[in-house]
Amino acid sequence: MAKKQQLWAWGIRNSFHYLVVLLVAVLLVAVVYLTGETGRLVEDYATCKSPAGDLSPPQCNFFSGKWVFDNKSYPLYKEQQCTFMSDQLACEKFGRKDMSYQNWRWQPHQCDLPRFNATALLERLRGKRLVFVGDSLNRGQWVSMVCLVDSAIPPTLKSMNSNGSLNIFKAIEYNATIEFYWAPLLVESNSDNPVNHRLPDRIVRVQAIEKHARHWTDADILVFNSYLWWRRPKMKVLWGSFESPDGIYKEVGMPRCYEMALKTWADWLEVHVNRNKTQLFFVSMSPIHER
Ligand SMILES: *[C@@H]1O[C@H](CO)[C@@H](O)[C@H](O)[C@H]1NC(C)=O
Ligand SMILES: *[C@@H]1O[C@H](CO)[C@@H](O)[C@H](O)[C@H]1NC(C)=O
Ligand SMILES: *[C@@H]1O[C@H](CO)[C@@H](O)[C@H](O)[C@H]1NC(C)=O
Ligand SMILES: *[C@@H]1O[C@H](CO)[C@@H](O)[C@H](O)[C@H]1NC(C)=O
Ligand SMILES: *[C@@H]1O[C@H](CO)[C@@H](O)[C@H](O)[C@H]1NC(C)=O
Repeated sequence: MAKKQQLWAWGIRNSFHYLVVLLVAVLLVAVVYLTGETGRLVEDYATCKSPAGDLSPPQCNFFSGKWVFDNKSYPLYKEQQCTFMSDQLACEKFGRKDMSYQNWRWQPHQCDLPRFNATALLERLRGKRLVFVGDSLNRGQWVSMVCLVDSAIPPTLKSMNSNGSLNIFKAIEYNATIEFYWAPLLVESNSDNPVNHRLPDRIVRVQAIEKHARHWTDADILVFNSYLWWRRPKMKVLWGSFESPDGIYKEVGMPRCYEMALKTWADWLEVHVNRNKTQLFFVSMSPIHER
């Protein structure tokens, strides 16, 4: 009973987090879906409307809009029906009663988004790698994205594999993968272990990202997030490697640490990512979620 209550309380505290996760996932789906380069683009935009009546498709700003309650077409998947749902995100399983947070749909001011269609999304992802990189927030985004397409793929035509920090969902028929890579600070840190990462003393190598980045160099769509793990007044920055005895450690204020890490990350992208091929997304500030 006590356990149940605890889980319930945990669910409530998590609900806002989960809502954000769900909403951002849906928005991302919309963006990926609408910015595909095929001829269907124009068709998808056919529902665009504007006061002047002549808004050409690319002028619809997807980021200007509002959330509307929609219990007809939402939720887009049911928690219990998703093969890959994780307990960490399964609010209903652990006793949450009010599930109406799943019914919010993003409505841009200038156009209507096409109704979500998992097959069409998979078609857009054909032969591509979609990789989420970051902390538990992005892990939630990833699970959500997998659940969105799950029901459209028969059991024998999908797989899920984990290897260290990298988790790979594969839609075999489409030769498409939807992946998650655990790197809560993006750059190297002593929190990089995908399971045991809650250490009291956080140490970050703000100039080292290669160890992580080589796993997602050739992704077609990269979705990063990093913010929650930086919320400390100060952090220990390491120049040198974790193994080396003569590494230099220095306490640095958080904003400066975050800045240095993002600089390393941005520089890496600049050099290694082909902008003609890869779409990038970055999520920074987000609500916390704690047990
Ligand atoms: C959908 O929401 C409306 C308004 O809140 C409510 O009247 C209706 O019963 C709901 N329908 C379903 C199927 O939940
Ligand atoms: C979903 O997309 C697929 C592939 O583009 C299409 O064949 C199918 O008709 C669509 N389904 C709906 C309900 O629009
Ligand atoms: C599958 O997709 C990968 C990219 O993720 C690509 O390199 C590979 O050539 C594709 N294989 C086939 C058989 O299309
Ligand atoms: C896991 O990843 C490591 C290095 O990243 C690689 O050497 C190993 O073969 C992988 N194992 C599996 C089962 O894919
Ligand atoms: C990207 O596309 C532009 C314009 O088409 C071209 O000039 C540039 O060389 C391309 N860059 C790469 C890295 O392919």
